[in-house]
Amino acid sequence: MSNQFKRTLITSALPYANGPVHIGHLAGVYVPSDIYARYLRLKGEEVLFIGGSDEHGIPITIKARKEGVTPQDIVDRYHELIKKSFSEFGITFDIYSRTTSETHMKTASNFFHTLYDKGEFIEQESEQYYDEEAGQFLADRYITGTCPHCDNEKAYGDQCEQCGASLSPNDLINPKSTLSGSVPVKRSTKHWYLPLDKHEEWLRKWIIEDHKEWKTNVYGQCKSWLDMGLQPRAVSRDLNWGVPVPVEGAEGKVLYVWFDAPIGYISNTIELLPNDWEKWWKDKDSRIVHFIGKDNIVFHCIVFPAMLKAEGSYNLPDNVPANEFMNLEGDKISTSRNWAVWLHEYLEEFPGKQDVLRYALTANAPETKDNDFTWKDFQAHNNNELVAVLGNFVNRALVLTNKHFENRVPALGKLTDLDRDAIAEAEKVKAVVESNLNNFRFREAQKEAMNMARIGNKYLADAEPWKVVKTDIERTATILNIALQITANLSIVIEPFLPFSADKLRKFLQIDSLGWDRLGNFDLLTEGHALGTSELLFDKIEDEAVEKQVKKLHDTKVANEAEEKAGEKAAQKAKPIKKTIEFEDFEKLDIRVATVIECEKVPKTDKLLRFLLDDGLNKRTILSGIAAYYPNPEELVGQQVCFIANLAPRKMRGILSEGMILSAENADGTLALVKPGSVVSPGSQVV
Ligand code: 2FM
Ligand code: ZN
Repeated sequence: MSNQFKRTLITSALPYANGPVHIGHLAGVYVPSDIYARYLRLKGEEVLFIGGSDEHGIPITIKARKEGVTPQDIVDRYHELIKKSFSEFGITFDIYSRTTSETHMKTASNFFHTLYDKGEFIEQESEQYYDEEAGQFLADRYITGTCPHCDNEKAYGDQCEQCGASLSPNDLINPKSTLSGSVPVKRSTKHWYLPLDKHEEWLRKWIIEDHKEWKTNVYGQCKSWLDMGLQPRAVSRDLNWGVPVPVEGAEGKVLYVWFDAPIGYISNTIELLPNDWEKWWKDKDSRIVHFIGKDNIVFHCIVFPAMLKAEGSYNLPDNVPANEFMNLEGDKISTSRNWAVWLHEYLEEFPGKQDVLRYALTANAPETKDNDFTWKDFQAHNNNELVAVLGNFVNRALVLTNKHFENRVPALGKLTDLDRDAIAEAEKVKAVVESNLNNFRFREAQKEAMNMARIGNKYLADAEPWKVVKTDIERTATILNIALQITANLSIVIEPFLPFSADKLRKFLQIDSLGWDRLGNFDLLTEGHALGTSELLFDKIEDEAVEKQVKKLHDTKVANEAEEKAGEKAAQKAKPIKKTIEFEDFEKLDIRVATVIECEKVPKTDKLLRFLLDDGLNKRTILSGIAAYYPNPEELVGQQVCFIANLAPRKMRGILSEGMILSAENADGTLALVKPGSVVSPGSQVV
């Protein structure tokens, strides 16, 4: 911490309370923030570590609807589970609260009101889709329809998953509400917008010039947002789950979840310290550090700072050390596909091994790029490092002392060069670990902390007390005194990373927690000090244990694939017949045969083919979303197709499409052109 600050407020992203927490959460946010908090506390600094659950937003309402329960039921269930997991893994929050708390509802509401009173918002009316049957406005994800780019009928109001186009609900053809299945209507609605464009100039200076020290992944993402130019962002939604917008005329509207969630950090500070919270957020000698994942960068580096600045009395974050993502055995972690190692399940399988997971996740932390967690790697970190290096050293020092010196710290005699070298090496560890921790390089910091054990191991291997003891008890005493001092140093340096093991070490050594400033000293244990009983610090993890976990994941994969296949099978049944129509209705359609004159892919699209047809009267152009099924479109030239001749023309990608070519859709969604059984003259009607 630079000297200008007296205290540090650490926040870690508030996880959505719509599922349990997994190793990705722990690796990306909660272990690094906990290491940092523990480190600063050990240094005797003033620290406040804030956590909590994010309990608003659409995904929670979707889950509740699926299960037929209320959103409150969902968040009550997961808040407790998440809180328990964090506590079991030794995440030392000073408070872990939630955004449905009374304090938060009031704080977020007041925050909005302050900005409203100061004229910091723009009010804007816009037309949005409304489901008359469900009686509510529809979030983008609640609307499906046909993609205007590729004709996929199952595109969402925010994105088409077939062609990848990002959409707005207005782009969808034949929009449908997923709530009731009905056709939504447009209704005018008012929302409040934070004009980020007005904040762009100071944000640019504050980040690009004043915070060059931020991690490159964070700095780079901010720069590209700023370079694209900031737009006003709506901070309210038409929804009945969230913090009600506290102004007149806002009935049925709540604050957007990303407006209220970061205010949760403030609310939780208020809940913990109702009379003393402000100094953490507003004093010039307090600093704020936000620990988050990479998907949260824009909200913590741009949107939330703009909100704080608009309010006027808060500090801005000093640093936002965001991490990339942790994958699992080569695949993206996914809650819906159950592709995860859930923390509560891990503890059932590996009771008491919290530190092993903390260690493996930090050793492989996704600090600069996405990384992969594998069970083999987890086993190797445990067996080759925690057991073979750290556990082995500590065990040898303690067992020999017990055996030859009645479990008391023996006297330090005359030092040899070997002793002096080991001491000099151990003295260097503190500065290296510190500099890495100060720069949020936890992976490197942990590696350097483990060096203390490596130095100890090498020292014992070179000094060979088990041999020396046969001839020279005084020299043996000196060696073991030094080995025990290294063990005491280990109890300090591993504390931020492996808190449960540090605790065990202190019990073995019968000492209280030592401050960080004592690290590197060799007078931590006095001669004659009685040690406690010890046991192995870590146990080997056998192949069977990790194979069981790999099998569990393999079973998940098989189950997912079976489910997908079952879904496809179900879809393979022919679709139900549409509502009966009268002959006159059919007669309205003018279906004809045409001969293909030209056929080519529309540039810059994946799906569209441009057909030039001879329809017997004229030439006409029709676009069709079947490119995926006809990789050599030129081969269609000369063939005949059926098309609807009297469909109103429609512009797509700047090209006027005059009708629709008929294709048959297979159960799996693949398409095949409909053709006459034998060649007919172009323009022949299908009757
Ligand atoms: O991405 C998420 O899981 C969000 N719930 C994080 C919110 S962080 C903060 F703003 F509360
Ligand atoms: Zn599409």
